[in-house]
Amino acid sequence: MYKIIRLNQSENLLKKTAQELMYHVLWAPHGMSKVNTREILEKDQINNNYYVAITNNPVDIIGCIVTREEGYKLEIKHLAVKEQFQRKGIGKSLVNHVLKESPSKNVKVIARNTSIIFWEKLGFNPCGKWIKHPLFTKHGIVFRKYCYNYNI
Ligand SMILES: CC(C)(COP(=O)(O)OP(=O)(O)OC[C@H]1O[C@@H](n2cnc3c(N)ncnc32)[C@H](O)[C@@H]1OP(=O)(O)O)[C@@H](O)C(=O)NCCC(=O)NCCS
Repeated sequence: MYKIIRLNQSENLLKKTAQELMYHVLWAPHGMSKVNTREILEKDQINNNYYVAITNNPVDIIGCIVTREEGYKLEIKHLAVKEQFQRKGIGKSLVNHVLKESPSKNVKVIARNTSIIFWEKLGFNPCGKWIKHPLFTKHGIVFRKYCYNYNI
């Protein structure tokens, strides 16, 4: 069993563990260095909210979602679930937790083509053009903006 908690600003150790998880799930498989990803993660850090899915016995972070809120807008910046825990509903729980905490916000995510079925199943729809990023194109990954439709 796991619970989802929001990390507060002082929980630096748990935040570092969550960042390690994101590095191993999101960027290391595509050959990105920790230096590059540190820049991504530390940019405007103060405005980012971290939520983690955490088990009790043993204590372990098995999933993480990072969001940024500005007024009525909410962006899902990163979402990652540990490989051995994927396809067990943890990603869905993390997203639903965030949606429930911020009802009626304008929610968007820049989704990878490899995860669009996941986003569509959760009620997100494409709301932008396909975007290429040089570091990811060579791995067959392109991005598209998806917006949440609260009416679904
Ligand atoms: C994408 C990711 C966050 C999904 O989390 P998860 O815990 O594995 O997904 P869930 O088990 O909550 O899946 C919810 C639904 O989406 C489906 N789904 C999840 N990932 C999918 C994928 N890559 N392709 C197709 N369907 C997928 C599940 O089968 C499930 O469907 P169901 O409700 O009909 O059973 C996770 O697999 C992951 O970390 N992937 C690598 C990193 C990544 O792509 N992050 C997203 C960047 S935009």
